[in-house]
Amino acid sequence: MKFTPFPNLASKRLALRKLEERDAETILFLRSNDIVNQFIKRPEHRQTKTISDAIKFIQTQEQNLKTNISIVWGITLINELQLIGTICLWNFTEKKDIAEVGYDLNPKFHNKGIMSEALNLVVSFGFNQLKLQKIEAFTDTNNENSKRLLTKNGFILNPSRKDVDNDSNLIYEIFEGTVNSNL
Ligand SMILES: CC(C)(COP(=O)(O)OP(=O)(O)OC[C@H]1O[C@@H](n2cnc3c(N)ncnc32)[C@H](O)[C@@H]1OP(=O)(O)O)[C@@H](O)C(=O)NCCC(=O)NCCS
Repeated sequence: MKFTPFPNLASKRLALRKLEERDAETILFLRSNDIVNQFIKRPEHRQTKTISDAIKFIQTQEQNLKTNISIVWGITLINELQLIGTICLWNFTEKKDIAEVGYDLNPKFHNKGIMSEALNLVVSFGFNQLKLQKIEAFTDTNNENSKRLLTKNGFILNPSRKDVDNDSNLIYEIFEGTVNSNL
């Protein structure tokens, strides 16, 4: 499993590309805006409160790419530079057969099917290129947008699993071979 060269992904409307330091302002917005972060709880050391935190976040992602620890894609509309959100695969198991997906999107672009399109690209990449067996998503029980996004795209709630670090999280899963034809 290697993330170099960086796997750019594209769909009809979107381009998923590597984060660059020039994205720092948007990263700061996405990781500190109250609407985007309403249901996201991060420990103090993972919070992004200043532009310098955002630059450090981007640099850490660059390191994580080189060491195959995780991969973050910046989401843009096709042929545009401006980032509108991010989507990532992280928390890989030691066997590299399971990973967790995470995502955020500028509220101006919500309810247009954007994250469904990005999620389909990343799920297909995870199963087809990384040969994952399962992708998981942890989401707050009150995060209706995220829960709907996941179920509409083939993820299934596993009610028997609990997030030991956050008891308001639900855990959704999608297995290789169960992705339907429109993904
Ligand atoms: C969760 C989140 C990523 C959802 O993103 P989104 O782009 O609005 O989600 P979708 O793209 O699937 O769009 C949802 C709605 O748009 C509709 N839609 C509109 N145009 C569409 C199109 N062209 N194609 C597909 N769906 C479209 C969908 O049908 C769906 O409506 P419904 O579910 O009410 O039927 C977004 O709300 C967000 O960033 N939230 C804050 C961050 C967050 O909570 N992250 C998750 C942490 S676990």
